[in-house]
Amino acid sequence: MTATRILCTGLGGVVGTELSTRLAGFAGAAEVVGVFSSPESRLRFLDGADPVLRGFLRAEVCDLTDPAQTAALAAVLGTAERTVVVHAAANTAWTLPLAVAMTANVEATRNVADLARASSGSARMIYVSSAFTSPENWLYRNTYEESKARAERMLRAEYPDLDVSVFSCSLVVGHSETGAVARFHGLYPLLKFIEGYEVPVVPGDRGRRLDIVPVDWVADELCHLLAEAVAGESPRDVVASAGAGAPKLPELIAGVAETVNRRRDAEGRPRLPEIAVFSMRQWDFLRRSLVVWQAGTASLPPARILDLLMDTYRPYLEDDRVLPPSGVSAPAPAFTGYLPAVVDYWLDRTSRAGRLVTA
Ligand SMILES: NC(=O)c1ccc[n+]([C@@H]2O[C@H](COP(=O)([O-])OP(=O)(O)OC[C@H]3O[C@@H](n4cnc5c(N)ncnc54)[C@H](OP(=O)(O)O)[C@@H]3O)[C@@H](O)[C@H]2O)c1
Repeated sequence: MTATRILCTGLGGVVGTELSTRLAGFAGAAEVVGVFSSPESRLRFLDGADPVLRGFLRAEVCDLTDPAQTAALAAVLGTAERTVVVHAAANTAWTLPLAVAMTANVEATRNVADLARASSGSARMIYVSSAFTSPENWLYRNTYEESKARAERMLRAEYPDLDVSVFSCSLVVGHSETGAVARFHGLYPLLKFIEGYEVPVVPGDRGRRLDIVPVDWVADELCHLLAEAVAGESPRDVVASAGAGAPKLPELIAGVAETVNRRRDAEGRPRLPEIAVFSMRQWDFLRRSLVVWQAGTASLPPARILDLLMDTYRPYLEDDRVLPPSGVSAPAPAFTGYLPAVVDYWLDRTSRAGRLVTA
């Protein structure tokens, strides 16, 4: 029987990929299992992984939304005396139909909790959630927030034996030094809006903050919590957000534009236009006038893309509710220090000869 097992879901994602680079520290003391959604995503992850990680990671495939597959995985894994689960897998899209979000984020979490119970003498769980949601007293901005909160409530009510710790992070961007990130979601479509379409205006409230955090800091804090759980310390919750250190919207846009313009200067390309931050009321007026406005010189994405972007981001541009940081071992790094690396990394991988390509 395996003594101690660490089972991580979502290792191929933004947070999981960075966490995986810290798992070697546990390899001597525990069997380390990673669960991937498909053979292709397992292969993709292993291809890009450090050889040391490839050597000790037990990489399994399972669609976590399918209870039959998770039950089969429990049988394949066999019993461990104790398991610590880091459940980072999720569907992180903000615009899913409610039923799809519930299956991906609530039912999958239930299946992972059942898997932990079925394959361990004792198990505990670190549930990775969002600092933009809360299980109580929260007006949900989208189905993602609602589903993440419902999963947390469900775990606490139905799985008290798993000693659940909730690790909630705010919007994750690339590594604070290299800018590296496994996938370009979250903030990145907004970068494309600014660089790709050279927009002269971004909608939002000038006073609101957009809480972003670099992925290496998030993974450090998550790893810290994992080490505590492996050591048998009491469960506790962590909120990995930037709080008062997060950029206000104009600061974020100015920081992005500065790095983009430095790149454009080096490439001999025209600089971005000055980007104004318009209130939502002003924006809605502009949007209604789009056809007339585009007849002029202003550059804007096609209406279909604009509407998609606005449907996605609007809740966060209008409403900056986020849980304040708590339980972290160090404050989030200042955004001014890492934003250039984040934007540069994205530019390196998306622009070829001055033209944006799909990430
Ligand atoms: N990134 C953020 O800005 C952010 C902010 C707040 C909270 N969070 C939370 O942090 C966690 C990680 O987010 P992330 O950004 O790293 O996610 P991500 O990049 O979107 O990756 C999602 C991960 O979930 C896995 N997954 C999805 N559906 C699955 C299924 N049915 N079966 C098995 N695996 C499945 C994927 O596996 P494959 O790669 O194998 O397909 C992938 O590794 C999530 O719980 C998310 O809610 C993220």
